Amino acid sequence: MRKPIIAGNWKMNKTASEGAKLVNELAPLVKDANCDVVVCVPAIDIPAVAEAIKGTNIQLGAQNVHFEAHGAFTGEIAADMLKEYGVKYVIVGHSERRSYFNDTDETVNKRMHAALNAGITPIVCLGETLEQRRTGKTEEVLDEQIEKSLKGVDDLSRIVIAYEPIWAIGTGVTATADQANETIGYIRKKCAEVFCPKCAEKVRIQYGGSMNAGNCKELMAMPEIDGGLIGGASLKADAFSAIVNYDK
Ligand code: 13P
Repeated sequence: MRKPIIAGNWKMNKTASEGAKLVNELAPLVKDANCDVVVCVPAIDIPAVAEAIKGTNIQLGAQNVHFEAHGAFTGEIAADMLKEYGVKYVIVGHSERRSYFNDTDETVNKRMHAALNAGITPIVCLGETLEQRRTGKTEEVLDEQIEKSLKGVDDLSRIVIAYEPIWAIGTGVTATADQANETIGYIRKKCAEVFCPKCAEKVRIQYGGSMNAGNCKELMAMPEIDGGLIGGASLKADAFSAIVNYDK
């Protein structure tokens, strides 16, 4: 019922020409995908990648968006600037933005609404630190992130949630499929409480954190996991396409 979505988060990697080359290599490898295929690229790569994905099933994503429509915000990018290039998705609240660039649940919430207002699907990231997991605070942390970051969403099916345990990002440590499934199940249950049970059934929730060709099958076989947000393994066409084609 929920169409899986596999998205690459290139983070601060690939120049525009490198990005175009990567999607040119990727396109034939993912053309028969049964899931939504998305690449979330650095802002300056957007024009080149938008051009390179024409006529393919690859969709374009960004990695951040400012919450105001326009104005004196030096260095920032507004939702309509993304929209003009056909950006369909934007990551908001990635843990790297939260920890290095002071993003909070409040600013994440504003970014999410800016994306929704522009007709761009936000991929809202949630997740706990290792310390929080060790001390049994995972659910408490997720509760707060859900209540604050997702505040005011009228239709949960218009967003994607990415559960990214911070201890699994870029570390090579993956949450086990059972751990990821259980926590994503918890997020869905909380969404049912805060929003409505029907909407919670519709929202797509991805897992992110060291997902790769070797572990994607097991993760994607889990009933609660609707996709992946992939960092390192999205930077090479063969590695990323192997994840996109997890069901083949
Ligand atoms: P890695 O796949 O490199 O662990 O990164 C995950 C991530 O942060 C995707 O947004």
